[in-house]
This record gives sequence, C-alpha cells and structure tokens, in this order.
Amino acid sequence: MTSKQPKTAKPAAEARRVCVIGAGYVGLPTAGVLSTRGHDVVLAERDERRLNMLLAGEMPIFEPGLDVLLAEGRAAGRLRYMPSAAEAVQGCEFVFLCVPTPQGDDGAADLSYVESAAAEIGPFLEPGTIVINKSTVPVGTVNLVERTIGRSDIAVVSNPEFLREGTAVTDSLHPDRIVVGSTDVRAATAVAELFGSTGAAMVITDPTTAETIKYASNAFLATKISFINAMAALCEAVGADVRDLVLGLGFDKRIGFEFLRPGPGWGGSCFPKDTSALVHIGMEHGYDFGLLRGAIACNDEQIERMVHKLEVAAGGSLDGKTIGIWGLTFKADTDDRRNSPATAITAKVVERGATVRAYDPTVSANDANSPDLAGVEIVADPVEAARGAAVIGLLTEWQEFRWVDFDAVAALMAAPSIVDARNLLDPEAIRRQGFTYVGVGRT
Ligand code: UDX
Repeated sequence: MTSKQPKTAKPAAEARRVCVIGAGYVGLPTAGVLSTRGHDVVLAERDERRLNMLLAGEMPIFEPGLDVLLAEGRAAGRLRYMPSAAEAVQGCEFVFLCVPTPQGDDGAADLSYVESAAAEIGPFLEPGTIVINKSTVPVGTVNLVERTIGRSDIAVVSNPEFLREGTAVTDSLHPDRIVVGSTDVRAATAVAELFGSTGAAMVITDPTTAETIKYASNAFLATKISFINAMAALCEAVGADVRDLVLGLGFDKRIGFEFLRPGPGWGGSCFPKDTSALVHIGMEHGYDFGLLRGAIACNDEQIERMVHKLEVAAGGSLDGKTIGIWGLTFKADTDDRRNSPATAITAKVVERGATVRAYDPTVSANDANSPDLAGVEIVADPVEAARGAAVIGLLTEWQEFRWVDFDAVAALMAAPSIVDARNLLDPEAIRRQGFTYVGVGRT
C-alpha cells in the first residue's frame, strides 16, 4: 500500500552520522525521521528477508507513510541499509538500539537482543560514540549496556520511544515530548539536538527515571482504557450510555478524551508486555503494584466479556455455530497481531466449538497456518465472512467496516446479528437494516 507524503521534518542544526540497529516498528520510523532531519543514517538489519525488502524499496511492515518517509531518505542519499551492525556503527557518532525486548516467561522483559547487539558493536564503536537505548527496557538497562560494551569512552543514554503503530510516522515527526536519560549532560544534550526543533517538550533526566517514564506512560494509558472498559460494563449494568459518559468526562481538561474508547481490551506489542514488566519490576524492588495488576485483570475480563456477548448473540452457545469475525489485528492501520484482543477472542470462540470465518485487510489465506489463527478460515472480504454466520464479531476498528454492503451481509445470515466490540457502527442505521446490534457500554 502506498501512502501520503509525510510532512518533511525540519532539519537539525548540524548533520550527524547516525546508526540505527533493528528495522522494526521503532527502528524504521526512527531511521526515516533522522534522515529527513538531514542526518546521514545507516540502518542495520540482520534478517535477510527484511533487508532485501528494504533494498528493493518494499516495506517489511505495514505502517502508513513509512514508505514515503524512507523513500525520501533514500532519494536524498541520507539513508543506507546494511546487514551487519558491527560494520554499520563504524564512523558513526550516534547508535540507536531499536531491537525487540519481548516478554520473557516470568513477565520480565527479555533483554537478550539488547545484550547481543551491545556485545556485537562494542569493539567497533568510534571513541566518543553515544549509544542510545530506544527499545523499552527495564530500569537499569543503561547500566547493563554500559557493562556489556565495557568501554569508558562510550556514553550510553536512554531515549524512550512513544510512537504508536498506525501513526508512527506522524508521532515520530511531531512528538509531544523527547525524554533523554543520562548522567552525562554533554551526551544528553547531543541526543536532544539530533531531533532538531520539533517544538516538543524536552525532559532531560537520569537514566533510571527515563526508563521508568516509558513504563509509566504505557501503564497509565492501559489503566485509562481499563477504567473506561470497566465503566462501559457498569453502563451496561445500569442502563447508561458510555459514549455520552465519555463526553461528560473528556471536556474536563484534567481528564481529556484520549484513550477513553471502550473496546475489546488493549493489546499490541507494548501495553501487555510493559504492564507485566512494570508489575515485575515493582515486585523485584519490594513494591506490589496492585493498581496495575487490577488494570491487567480488568483487561483479561474484557476479552471474556466480548466472548460472552458473542455467545449470547449466537443463542446461548457457540458450539456448532458459524461465527464471522471482522478484524484480527490489535488495532486498525497496522498489520500487527501481537497480543491482539481480536485473535484472543477468536481463539476462545474456536475453543468453544464454533467454526470461524474471519476477514482482515492485512491477513490473507496464506497466513492461515500462523499459530494465532489456528482453526480459523481466512476469507477475502467481510461479506464472505458472514456466510452462514449466527453472528458477526467486529473486533478491529478498520474504517472499511463502516461501508460494508450490509444488505449483502444480511442476505447470508439466517438472523442478522452483530457484536460491535469497537462501537464503530451506528446502531440505529444497522438496526434499520434488520440487524440485532450489540455494542460496548451502550444499550
Ligand atoms: C502504545 C503507546 O501508545 C505508545 O506510546 C508506545 O510507544 C507503544 O505502545 P501502540 O501499542 O502502537 O502504542 O497502540 P495504541 O494506539 O496505544 O493502542 C494500544 C491498545 O489500546 C490497542 O489494542 C488499542 O486498540 C487499545 N485502545 C487504545 C483502546 O482500546 N482504547 C483507546 O481509547 C485507545
């Protein structure tokens, strides 16, 4: 998919030589934005398939605007791709670590990629290079990277990333704030200057605080969503309307409207992993983060709540029924299904004996072997997902679901029924087309 031209970033005061390690959801926009700011960027990616796609001008992930951003950098000769991190860092003044930090078995972040990248580049760094942790990492990782590199002429700095998938390019070009954590003021200032005049607030602090800020942001936002999901459940119980409730809340500037959309629960590569990791960090340091444990438990309940809605809409049991699923990614405008509430709900529906026909614009029949889609038939359009279905579960807020031919959908269902886990559709309009409609937090 090709997307619109991103607004070119304001150049930084001085062009610097920058290396970004890891061409993932964080590394790619970071490399793109730094190159449009006028820096000379080399992106190291050791996965051959990913690297070859980039070299061919193709995108290894779906992220709106990323293709144009990277093409700009390539056309200006300011963005190169290389397989070897050890080679890529040579001659660079700044090295961003943007490697994955998946969740380990005990809930703690798995730092093996960070450690191996630091060990690999250590001997090849130029004296005075600043190494920057952009991956979300537990408190103390700046020290771990320092120890792994083992050189007193290298500064290690924390610079957490706050971009969201789906809006990664805009978020990187126009951040709300830039957080830099370092005990070395020279290094912190140099990293802050790399981003040029974004107009973003700058928070320069110590590494531990910077690392904690990232977890705190994600934990706060996840808690905010869990709060509104809990309020939605309460609205259903008392007969209130969560949409009007959000209006009543959001106009209070202290609360605001952001992250108050009720839904099937929060997912993705960050919130589930980072909330568990923060609970774990607390435990390791003698603090039981009960509030956050509650937000996580509330999120697990939300998934079960959506399964229950489908069950009720299907006549009290899922066993032997066909269920149509619209949307499998963890949110719209991404192809990412990591910790997706949509696939978690779908798996439970399959577990309870239903046949599932699912449609998602980023998933094709070739993906059907993926473990998270076990037992799910992938179809090519939303209408097809409705064939013989007792109910449709709309689980991801892809805008195209607003414009489906609902007459064609209804014609394929014995008793047209939809559970809209994202409150995407207009209940009145859908009901007029003969559907039974169930949303979240509204009757
Ligand atoms: C998040 C943070 O927002 C970002 O700052 C951080 O760098 C990475 O983690 P991301 O996971 O890409 O970004 O998506 P986000 O838009 O935050 O959504 C996270 C989850 O919350 C999704 O499952 C989304 O559907 C859900 N969500 C979000 C809601 O259910 N309601 C909302 O109001 C907002």
